[in-house]
Amino acid sequence: MKFVIATHNKGKLVEFQRLLEPMGIEAVTMDISEPEEDGASFAENAYIKAAAACKETGLPAVADDSGLCVDYLDGAPGIYSARFAQPGKRRLTVLEKLQGVPLEQRGAHFVSAVCCVFPNGDRVEAEGKCFGSIGFESRGENGFGYDSIFEQDGVTFGELTAAEKDARSHRGHAFAAFEKKLRDYLERKGAEL
Ligand code: IMP
Repeated sequence: MKFVIATHNKGKLVEFQRLLEPMGIEAVTMDISEPEEDGASFAENAYIKAAAACKETGLPAVADDSGLCVDYLDGAPGIYSARFAQPGKRRLTVLEKLQGVPLEQRGAHFVSAVCCVFPNGDRVEAEGKCFGSIGFESRGENGFGYDSIFEQDGVTFGELTAAEKDARSHRGHAFAAFEKKLRDYLERKGAEL
């Protein structure tokens, strides 16, 4: 079954493809417009993106809305993670806001809400989280976005291989739950991937 991936974020696209392909999903990209993400939650924004892409292409569309929630910043940047500061300055801005904050107050988590919208209006949704802390400096060249400042057990996501990140990341967890829900949905419909 062919699904269109509704994202303009190259880092996410790479992860989507490597998470969706083992499920037997043919994940295609298309030049689709970017809807305004004016939802009040990760789940609402994921739905907005998937629904817009499905409407535009006529294909089932998968989107994720994701972000970093920092305890010390009362959950910011959260759903505003992509717009939190100027491009290229986002990681530094988080590090600056946490300057002088001790390790035990640097807790943070990533959230990924995944949504698939079908042309008949049905949707399949799942969410994943992963918990860690904000490092004192940026480390590692892998991944994207805030990966190089998000640590688990002293290792940043930017220092992980792709497989290691998928095994522990919010998106890895969200897509694992999504696969199960999608298979249940398709089984009820008498369809297959
Ligand atoms: P959006 O979901 O397109 O609104 O963007 C989410 C933003 O959150 C991205 O631009 C990244 O800055 C950040 N983000 C989401 N997932 C990850 C991740 O896996 N690693 C690092 N940053 C992420």
